[in-house]
Amino acid sequence: MLKLRDEIESLRRQRNAVILCHTYQAPEIQDVADFVGDSYGLSLQATKVEAETIVFCGVLFMAETAAILNPQRRVVLPDLSAGCPMADMISADQLRALKAEHPAAAVVCYVNSTAEVKAESTICCTSSNAVRIVESLPPDQPVIFVPDRYLGRFVERRTKRKMIVWDGFCPTHAHLEPETVRRMRKRYPEAEVMVHPECPPEVQDEADHVLSTGQMCDLVKTAKCRQFLVGTEEGIIYTLRKIAPEIEFVGISPLLVCPNMKKTTLEKVRNALRDGEPRIVVPDSVARAARRSIEAMLEVTEGHKGG
Ligand code: 13P
Ligand code: SF4
Repeated sequence: MLKLRDEIESLRRQRNAVILCHTYQAPEIQDVADFVGDSYGLSLQATKVEAETIVFCGVLFMAETAAILNPQRRVVLPDLSAGCPMADMISADQLRALKAEHPAAAVVCYVNSTAEVKAESTICCTSSNAVRIVESLPPDQPVIFVPDRYLGRFVERRTKRKMIVWDGFCPTHAHLEPETVRRMRKRYPEAEVMVHPECPPEVQDEADHVLSTGQMCDLVKTAKCRQFLVGTEEGIIYTLRKIAPEIEFVGISPLLVCPNMKKTTLEKVRNALRDGEPRIVVPDSVARAARRSIEAMLEVTEGHKGG
């Protein structure tokens, strides 16, 4: 492991590369990264990169987003098969058909979507800014929200705005049950419960906080509570412990593991740096349209013009 880490360190310098890493990645991957963050933070980071190569430790849609924002740089995903099943639950053809049914609607796509779906969308969002993005749209305009039905329902509740919501879901979060949360609360009566908006509404109803992963990291910086039950992918527990070592973090369920996020290994990171492969390339015509929807999101959230 030490040898691999040394190799990664020296290849990173030789290749003028930066390693971006989602909080769901395994601890040893987080430890070699230059930046660990949520989908939003990683998208933003991707607009600031100066390195020639970006090694993206996450899943395909995240690397695609980085490639869309950095057409001139080499973006590498250490395991090409690390996809996001939710992103694959709607195709560009399906979205085009839905748009034809609702021609006046704005399309908000969760960043967990393919580049082709982003290219068909008005504006992108992440779980940390979805409410704000929907609120930024003209109040009387119909809204199509894809692909996550649970994040969509969460936004509907928060904005009191009815939307046309696609039926996608995250297989990792969708199976969390309210009963599991209730059982864990009994075992840890002092703890506060935080869950991701990709969890079903009945699970969200059991929680004290419904937060994106980035918001979870922010919350624990100032939290008074000394114990949290964590209702999202287990990789974040390592990140949270680093941010707030004085707090105890307990995963709500051992099933909260995203198999795709766990495909990244140190060996694959080393190979990706060494070979510059597997490279993620988004065709120009798709990238141009997809970039508009991502930049629209960055502009609403940051007043940022994008890369
Ligand atoms: P965040 O937007 O909170 O980083 O979540 C991404 C994701 O894939 C959740 O399953
Ligand atoms: Fe996709 Fe769910 Fe994995 Fe996030 S946790 S990458 S939504 S499958």
